[in-house]
Amino acid sequence: KLKLGVLISGRGSNLQALIDACAAADFPAEIVLVLSNKADAFGLERASSAGIPTAVVSHRDFPGDKPAFEAAMDGKLRDAGVELVCLAGFMRLLSPWFVGRWQDRLINIHPSLLPSFKGLDTHQRALDAGVRFHGCTVHVVRPAMDDGPIIAQAAVPVLPGDDADRLAERVLACEHALYPHAVRLLAEGRARVEGDRVVIGGPAVEVPAVI
Ligand code: GAR
Repeated sequence: KLKLGVLISGRGSNLQALIDACAAADFPAEIVLVLSNKADAFGLERASSAGIPTAVVSHRDFPGDKPAFEAAMDGKLRDAGVELVCLAGFMRLLSPWFVGRWQDRLINIHPSLLPSFKGLDTHQRALDAGVRFHGCTVHVVRPAMDDGPIIAQAAVPVLPGDDADRLAERVLACEHALYPHAVRLLAEGRARVEGDRVVIGGPAVEVPAVI
């Protein structure tokens, strides 16, 4: 099984979706480490409840020294034997050094249909822009924020009367289906990074029902 390291900063509902997916015997990946930059992240409790090793590397312990912060995280991931790093609500921008260390083995979930609405507050910005479809994206991480080859996306219609919270709730449900789906594609070799694109191959890809 592909060994995953999941990086979180908070609630960890996407982490939970990955934990639940990995619990199925036929899922081709397992989580070997959950790493948080915040000691009080609720996701750490989710990991512990599932018997998954956790670690905290707080950026506050490395004031003004991002290289040391990232080297500490990198060390924990390597010690745990991680093969694929999954950002799941990890809210620090990673440096080109860290991204290069995990070239094509570092993925992120973002709550918009990239390349639209990079950054924060994506649901309100989607409403303000008047788009009819919003959604979420799992992509390979490149040094620029919320940039990189797209692995999988799920679209969510914007409904009359939506506010940011209601829209976020429906997008989040899609995130929870999409992230395990994207991990499966990579773990089974059906999604391969070729330069600045991800190529999907192999047998027909079944898409989770929610999408
Ligand atoms: C998710 O919606 C995720 O897509 C988003 O933060 C939330 C984390 O929730 N990530 C980003 O905005 C990254 N730029 P969770 O902790 O419950 O998984």
